[in-house]
Parts: sequence; C-alpha cells; structure tokens
Amino acid sequence: MNGEATQPAGLDPGDWQEIECRLAEFAAEEVRELQRSLSGPVWREPPPELIRALAEEPVPRDGEDLDAVIERYREQIRPWRNGNTHPRFFGWVQGGGNLASVFADLAISLLNPNVGGREHGAVHVEREVIRWCCELFGFPAAASGILTTGTSAATHLAIQLAAFRHLGLNYKKRGFFEAGPPLRCYCSSEGHSSIIKAIEACGIGSDHLVVVPVDDRHRIRIDRLRQVMEQDRAQGLRPFLVIANAGTVNTGAFDDLHAIRRVCDEMSCWMHVDGAFGAWLRIADAPWKELTEGIETADSLAFDFHKLISVTYECGGLLVRDGDFHQRVYSIRPDYLAPHGEALAGGEPWFCDFGLELSRSFRALKVWFSFRHYGIEGLGRSVTHACELARYLAARIEISEYLELCQPPISSIVTFGLAGIEDLEAHNWRIEQLSAALQRSGKAVFSLTRQGDRRVLRASMTNHRSREQDIDAAVAALEELATR
Ligand SMILES: Cc1ncc(COP(=O)(O)O)c(C=O)c1O
Repeated sequence: MNGEATQPAGLDPGDWQEIECRLAEFAAEEVRELQRSLSGPVWREPPPELIRALAEEPVPRDGEDLDAVIERYREQIRPWRNGNTHPRFFGWVQGGGNLASVFADLAISLLNPNVGGREHGAVHVEREVIRWCCELFGFPAAASGILTTGTSAATHLAIQLAAFRHLGLNYKKRGFFEAGPPLRCYCSSEGHSSIIKAIEACGIGSDHLVVVPVDDRHRIRIDRLRQVMEQDRAQGLRPFLVIANAGTVNTGAFDDLHAIRRVCDEMSCWMHVDGAFGAWLRIADAPWKELTEGIETADSLAFDFHKLISVTYECGGLLVRDGDFHQRVYSIRPDYLAPHGEALAGGEPWFCDFGLELSRSFRALKVWFSFRHYGIEGLGRSVTHACELARYLAARIEISEYLELCQPPISSIVTFGLAGIEDLEAHNWRIEQLSAALQRSGKAVFSLTRQGDRRVLRASMTNHRSREQDIDAAVAALEELATR
C-alpha cells in the first residue's frame, strides 16, 4: 500500500477495498497476538536501545507506507505490553479489557463522532448508558451524568460542583479566591491521591483537605469526622464536601455510606463517593453487594468502567443527583454553539454543558457493547469472581511459610508482607527487591503499597481473565524468589 500512489490529495486511500482487507488482516493479527501473549510472560522490560531510539527519532517529515508503519509497531511497541491484559497481572488497579469493547473501539474510530453535543445517534447512546447507570446505582430520574476519561477526571468535576453548590453560582465569575474563609473537604486516610490532585487543581488547596483516621476495617471514623467538621465550623472555616470511599485503593475498604450521608445532612455538605472500582460491587453477589449500601444517597458518584468491568481504556463516569444544577455549573455556549434546537444543531442538552470538554469521544459505545453483550448478570458474575479470587489468594497466603497476610480481604484487594523478617528496614528493602524481581521474571505482577511503616505487596483482582491456577502460579513464583 503505497502512500504516494493512493493519497493524491487528502488523507484517505485511493483504494478503499484494499484498506478493508488490510484492516481485517490487522485486526485478526492483533487478536491472535493478544491470545498468544496470554500464555507468555506477563511483562518484559523494553530494551534500553529501543527506549533511546524512541526518545531520539526525528519528526517524520515524509510519510511512509502503511506496511512500514505497521512493521515498526510490531517491532517497537507491541512486544512491550503493559501486562494488564494478562491473567497473572495483579498490579495497581488495571482492567484487562473485554473483547466486546474492542468491537466498539473499532466502530468509534470509524464513526468518529464528536459527542460534545448535537443531534446524532452517539449522544443518545451516552444518555442511555447514563440512564442505565443511574438505575444500577439508585440515582433518581432527575440525576445527570457524563462519561469521563476516568475517576480522576470525574472527581475533579464533583469537587467543583460541590464548591459551587456551597458558594453559589456567582463564584463561577468571581473565583474561589474571593470566596472568604477557606472551604474544607474531608476524606479518610485511605482516600485516593486523585482527590488531593483535584482539590489542588480546583484551587481549594490540599491544606484544606482534612484527612480523617480510619477504624480497624479501614472505614472513616464517623465520630472523628463529625468532630473535625464541628471544630472547623467553630473556627469559622467552611465544611463543604465529604468524599466517601466505596473501595479504597490500598485495602478495598468501604466507608459507612449511610452514616456519611447523615453527617453531610447535618452539616449541609455535599457527599461525593469515590467508587472507582468498588461501585461495581453493587452488581455482585452477597456479601459484597451489601458493601455499596448507601451509594444511592450520594450527591455525586465517580466510577470507572475500565477497571472491574473491563471496558477498554479510557472510560469512567460521573453521576450527579441534581442534574439541573450540574448543567448550570458547566453550561457556556458562545454564539457559534448557541442552542437553536433544530436539525443537527438540536439534540439538547449537549454533553459539553456537563463537563470541561467541548470535543468528546464516543466512549459510551464501549459501555453499551459491554452491557448489551455480557448483560449486568454476566458483568456481575465477573465482579463476584474477582472478590472470590481475593479470598482465594488470602487463603493461599495464610498457608505460606514465606508470606504474611495483612488483613482478610474486604473486596477485590489483598495486601501481604514477608513472614519472619522482624527488622522493618530489611523487610521493606527485601519486598521491593522481590516485587521487581517477580515483574522481571515475567511470571506475575504484583505492585507495592505501604501499611503504616511497612512496605507490602498488593494484589488487585481486576483482571477478568485471572483464575485460581494463575494465583497458584503467581504465589509459587513469589515463594521461589523469596527462598533465594
Ligand atoms: C479508589 C480509586 N480512586 C480513584 C482512582 C483513579 O482512577 P483513574 O485512574 O480512572 O483516574 C483509582 C485508581 O486506581 C482508585 O483505585
């Protein structure tokens, strides 16, 4: 396929049929490669020469044949997978990518709609997906929502909404710096770093993010929450937002959402829930489903489709109880976008009025394909399986002479240290070495975190491909390294 011969004027090919065949071949090759990679190493380190070459290659001034570009991709990019598609990847909180989303990804690229607004099919699909999520998470009909790149982006929006709810919409113009005594936000010591980032990016300042201690089940202590909020009020500061956890990144813990709702009502505060992965326990079996009780009472909920239900990246969402308010915060329509409700310019309300982006991708189609293909029952079974695997791993660690479970898993996350090493520094050094050595071995991937002063390994059961035998293999590989 020669660029010069087939692209006389624009960027499209001269021969569409050839593209059709090449795309089908390429898709088939990618599926084969994915399947092949599942029995290969989880991760391989990209060679330094390659990293150097990629860092130094000049801007390609003249185009090259598509075959040559594909060949570069085959050699330089594809072999160095992140590993998250592999069943023995338990690092961080990364989805493996379901195959229904892959069909959607292709369709999204070829349809290439801008879902900022207007009257076309994609807008209605995103509305439908949001309506389904409202139903699943128990949000009322008047709620609104928007799909985002992920929970970090959704949390950022939620914090802005909460601040404008507290201060009034005239502060959209005046800015937070004129808003008088500091606004105060509260979350537990288990809150995710994306909350700090968003609080800082919103100009509220992380000095005003009050970190509340947790109980022995890693839940925010409600008595301490109430106490610090009252103290702040007494000092003339302004509590405006509590961010509750539905699934903490370190321990998979769930706050008592009903209790937080009561505190928010007493203090006239917005309640936001970070449900990045944990919100999906809502569709799992008992006892995990019950952990999400009270999520339906939140003023806003951030959650990811690209984690526990394996929609391909990037795909998160925000639901907002008061949809009308949500729209009023973000609605700005200059002349060239002004609503006039007709033809392609119709389709109100536009999604650009519910977030920061004007141009938006059609990520809703990935959710739509996944919901329709697997059904909520199928996705729910996958979430239940993740939680069951966490229990399985915990049980496996408990009988290990080299590993030590930190606590019984609450949802889909397990943390563990090394048994029999009393010296903290030695333990921490050794576990960091072990984690890297296991990753380099290609046999499995766990990641690290900290519990108190202790570095510990952390396993997140976010990959829908993982099975019990993958856990057995991963633990065996770790134990083997630990004996060396
Ligand atoms: C509890 C929690 N909140 C927020 C995030 C951030 O989500 P995202 O990576 O989709 O921005 C994560 C990511 O792992 C998380 O686990």
